[in-house]
Amino acid sequence: MRIPFIAGNWKMYKTVHEAVVFVKELKLVVKDVTGVEIVVAPPFTAVHAVAEAVRNTNVGVAAQNLFWEREGAFTGEVSPGMIKGAGAEYVIIGHSERRRLFGETDAIVNRKVIAAIGAGLTPIVCIGETLEERERNETLPVLDRQIKDSLDRLTGDQIAELVVAYEPVWAIGTGRTATAMQAGEAHAHIRQRLRQWFGADAADRCHVIYGGSVKPDNIRELVAEPDVDGALVGGASLEVRSFADIVTRSRPAAV
Ligand code: PGA
Repeated sequence: MRIPFIAGNWKMYKTVHEAVVFVKELKLVVKDVTGVEIVVAPPFTAVHAVAEAVRNTNVGVAAQNLFWEREGAFTGEVSPGMIKGAGAEYVIIGHSERRRLFGETDAIVNRKVIAAIGAGLTPIVCIGETLEERERNETLPVLDRQIKDSLDRLTGDQIAELVVAYEPVWAIGTGRTATAMQAGEAHAHIRQRLRQWFGADAADRCHVIYGGSVKPDNIRELVAEPDVDGALVGGASLEVRSFADIVTRSRPAAV
């Protein structure tokens, strides 16, 4: 019922030119791939050019952040409507780098999620514990707080359309992936909370994807976990070959 969802988070990499060269190659490589939702998240500067380059293909586009206001004197910020107008359909919200480096809290994430939905964007909401929290055995309470506060005031129907990315902070960019078992446990917990707080239909339809050092070599075992619906890929999404391999290996038939 939930088809795998694979998103490449390019972070602060790729000029407009590099981004367009990348997607022109990617769209050819994945043109016959069915049964996987494929998304790339370029920096703001390249969102429009990338969206034009992948128009009418099976590749979608995400922004990496937004501001919740519609317009105004907010120097340096980008509104949900501007992102939508640039051709993106998705937006990553609350990535751990934004939480750590730019002070984003669950309350801020919540405002952004609501604004994104209001503009017709699908949020990819990132949650996940730090190493210290895991070592203190606080993983599940931390996830509970992040789910409750980041998704506050959303309806079951809105949750159903959402993508939640579980990204243990200690696994991001470190080469240290959560084992399939660790990911599976966290995802099962997240799904159970979504069911409890937003209803069975919302929980069954919401995509819960994993992020943190996902590579072509480990994607199969991760998506073999019943509650892992795909991946948010950083480093390995910067090369067409490795990103396309992750996409094709995420299909159930490939497991
Ligand atoms: P990584 O990044 O794949 O390079 O660990 C994942 C992310 O930050 O979304």
